[in-house]
Amino acid sequence: KLEFMERTLAIIKPDAVAARSTGAILQRAEGAGFSIVAMRLVRLSKRDAEGFYAVHRERPFFSELTAFMSSGPSVVLALAAPDAIKRWRALMGATDPAQAEEGSLRREFGRSIENNATHGSDGLETAAFELNYFFRGLELG
Ligand code: CMP
Repeated sequence: KLEFMERTLAIIKPDAVAARSTGAILQRAEGAGFSIVAMRLVRLSKRDAEGFYAVHRERPFFSELTAFMSSGPSVVLALAAPDAIKRWRALMGATDPAQAEEGSLRREFGRSIENNATHGSDGLETAAFELNYFFRGLELG
């Protein structure tokens, strides 16, 4: 049953939306057994991106990352599946598309470590924070 399954927050990043890869990525997600529980097209402000990536604020790439994430619309998704967090990360592949496995989303749709097409929560706690950042309880069913 959908409501007992693990959920992860996924983002189709501005590079992939601009490249019109949204449909192809959604098809890959559904084809891999994920159910879309909530979905929205959002244009993040710089502040929204800074809040979302707050855990990375001390990183040297923080300013570039948040500028990129606010450069155009993204699609934010709540995906449900057994073991959704780990399985979505596996489907995405390594952060750097050049290191990502053949057949992974970042290998296919990403262009660089920054323009890497997709995001996924990296653990249960971050998934809870990230889902709550974009969706209200009711929208998640
Ligand atoms: P994401 O999974 O969204 O989480 C943080 C993001 O920072 C990561 O994907 C990358 O797109 C981005 N990023 C940019 N530069 C780097 C870097 N040098 N190392 C790791 N992540 C980076």
